[in-house]
Amino acid sequence: MYRWMLTSDAMRKIIVVFLIICIQNGFTSPHQSYTNDTFHQSARPKQQQLFHTTSTENFELDYNSNDKEVINNALNRGPYFDTSASKNVTALVGKTAYLNCRIRNLGNRTVTWIRHRDLHLLTVDKTTYTSDQRFVSVHNPQMGDWSLQVRYPQRRDSGVYECQVSTTPPVAYSMILSVVEPVTTIHGSPDLYIDTGSTVNLTCIVRHLPEPPATIQWTHNNEEINYDSPRGGVSVITEKGEITTSYLLIQRAKISDSGKYTCTPSHANPQTVNVHVLNGY
Ligand SMILES: *[C@@H]1O[C@H](CO)[C@@H](O)[C@H](O)[C@H]1NC(C)=O
Ligand SMILES: *[C@@H]1O[C@H](CO)[C@@H](O)[C@H](O)[C@H]1NC(C)=O
Ligand SMILES: *[C@@H]1O[C@H](CO)[C@@H](O)[C@H](O)[C@H]1NC(C)=O
Ligand SMILES: *[C@@H]1O[C@H](CO)[C@@H](O)[C@H](O)[C@H]1NC(C)=O
Repeated sequence: MYRWMLTSDAMRKIIVVFLIICIQNGFTSPHQSYTNDTFHQSARPKQQQLFHTTSTENFELDYNSNDKEVINNALNRGPYFDTSASKNVTALVGKTAYLNCRIRNLGNRTVTWIRHRDLHLLTVDKTTYTSDQRFVSVHNPQMGDWSLQVRYPQRRDSGVYECQVSTTPPVAYSMILSVVEPVTTIHGSPDLYIDTGSTVNLTCIVRHLPEPPATIQWTHNNEEINYDSPRGGVSVITEKGEITTSYLLIQRAKISDSGKYTCTPSHANPQTVNVHVLNGY
């Protein structure tokens, strides 16, 4: 009994020692392998990430090539619009305007121009369909341009115009026409009375121009004013902007400075003022 107990006690000790060894081993070697595993695992997701990234790139490449394919198909299959030019066209009242529709791959399709406001059919290919003969379709085969010419444009012609190509379904390109009417005014017009010896200050203002006028010319009795004349004291100051102002200054006014002064901005209507230099005594 005692021996068994001893044996049993020894066995227990042996088992405990064995267990300790096992646990120690179990803690060391599995831990190492775990570390390696961790290393591998930490490496693997990286690789997976890399792979994933690569596959994403591949996907993007595929997507891009799909995109290219779509474009290529579009090139092969149908017309498309050259959108590089501005969709906004500003025109002056009365001055012929062009809405330019540049079409690639048109093939044998028909081009129509439609006024968006009332869906009025204006032109079909080179034929004007509306009774308003101011609308003409102008074709430039080299450039692939189908322009809508608007003769004598009025402010009411402002709006959206659509260039349509007869595919199924039709494709369209919208353009915006803004017809503006510049207004030129001169302060004190039509008649300005000035005392001899004082300074004549003529102020010409140009409004509603899409961009400032390149030049503003002044004339006196229809003759261009010479700012370097022996008379001297004549100068002009022009401030360009959304509103452009030109000041014509004539110092020490004389009777001979009287007469008709006209301000002529480029791309806008001229304006005239009659200056009366009076003896101020
Ligand atoms: C643990 O991984 C490293 C690097 O992969 C390797 O050099 C080492 O031999 C591995 N150790 C074990 C115990 O697997
Ligand atoms: C075109 O005109 C519209 C409306 O007048 C404006 O909102 C837009 O900014 C313009 N675009 C360009 C490129 O001028
Ligand atoms: C246009 O051309 C295509 C071939 O490119 C042809 O199938 C089609 O019938 C033509 N349409 C007209 C109206 O001529
Ligand atoms: C000319 O008149 C305008 C106002 O119309 C004024 O702003 C400007 O200062 C005047 N210039 C001179 C030199 O008197």
